This record gives sequence, C-alpha cells and structure tokens, in this order.
Amino acid sequence: MKYKHIVLAVLAVLVMSLVLVACGGGGGGATTVTEAPPASPTPSGDPVAGKAQFDTVCIACHGPGGVGVEGLGKPFTTSEFLLTVNDQELLEFVKTGRPIGHPDNTTGVDMPPKGGNPALTDDQLLDIIAYIRTLHE
Ligand code: HEC
Repeated sequence: MKYKHIVLAVLAVLVMSLVLVACGGGGGGATTVTEAPPASPTPSGDPVAGKAQFDTVCIACHGPGGVGVEGLGKPFTTSEFLLTVNDQELLEFVKTGRPIGHPDNTTGVDMPPKGGNPALTDDQLLDIIAYIRTLHE
C-alpha cells in the first residue's frame, strides 16, 4: 500500500513538472497560444452545389460549362476579369450585374443582377462563383 502511494506521488510530481516545462515555466517567450485559425478573408463556396445553380440560372447566357453564348453572356473559360477579382468582389459584381450603359460593358448586352434571379442568396452565389472558377482554362 505504502509503495503504491510513493509511486503515485512520484508520478504526480513528474506530471506537474512536465506541464511546467510544456508551458515554458510560465514566463518564457516560447509559449504558443493555440487560437482558432483566422477566418479566411473570402468565404468560398461549394463548386458542386454551384454547378447545379449555374445550370439553372447562368447557363442560359453563359452556356454549358461557361463557354459563353454568342450575342449573350461572355465565356468564363477565357475571362481575364475572373482572374483579377477575388470572391468578394465577384460576389458584388454578380449581385450588381453590368448593364448595357456601364463603361465596362463590352458586349452591348445586359448582365442582369444575380443573373436575373433575385432569389439567389449570397451563399448560393458564392457556390456558383466557386464553380465558375473551375471553368477557366
Ligand atoms: C441574361 C443573360 C445573362 C445571365 C442569365 C447571366 N449573365 Fe453574366 N453576363 C451576361 C453578359 C451579357 C455579360 C457581359 C457584359 C459585358 O458586356 O461586359 C456577362 C458577364 C458576366 C461576368 C463577367 C465576365 C467577364 O469576363 O467580364 C460574370 C462573372 C458573370 N456574367 C457571371 C454570371 C453569373 C454567375 C450568372 C448566374 C448567376 C450570370 N452571369 C447570368 C449575361 C448574363
């Protein structure tokens, strides 16, 4: 019985000193604070869910796989624009659209806000954005 107590006491001291060492003695500069990783600056969507939305809303003008439709939407496969904007900027763009009178409009065709489907949520649009990012060649 006594021996067991001694073993337990030694173990307890060992554990305590290990904890102290791991914490750098309390004052060391080597203590690492474990925090949750910083939230990514741009939330990214799910390209699989995005494809389903794309295929019902954007496909009419941008074509299957985003190849574009002559006289309607621009192709995403070769879009320089997609390479220069981040997801947040692209989200704002899709929510706003690019009307015929807009200085950046190159086609003389309207890009309607949310592709003409006001029911699309930001999350759904981010899914679509994740999908169209996979289309670039
Ligand atoms: C009614 C047709 C139409 C629909 C539907 C449509 N677009 Fe467009 N979209 C356009 C046109 C036209 C342009 C090109 C405007 C211009 O001349 O710059 C365009 C441009 C874009 C661009 C910029 C491409 C570039 O290289 O400049 C993005 C991104 C885009 N659309 C995303 C979407 C998304 C996402 C959807 C579905 C939610 C969608 N569009 C639905 C017509 C459409």
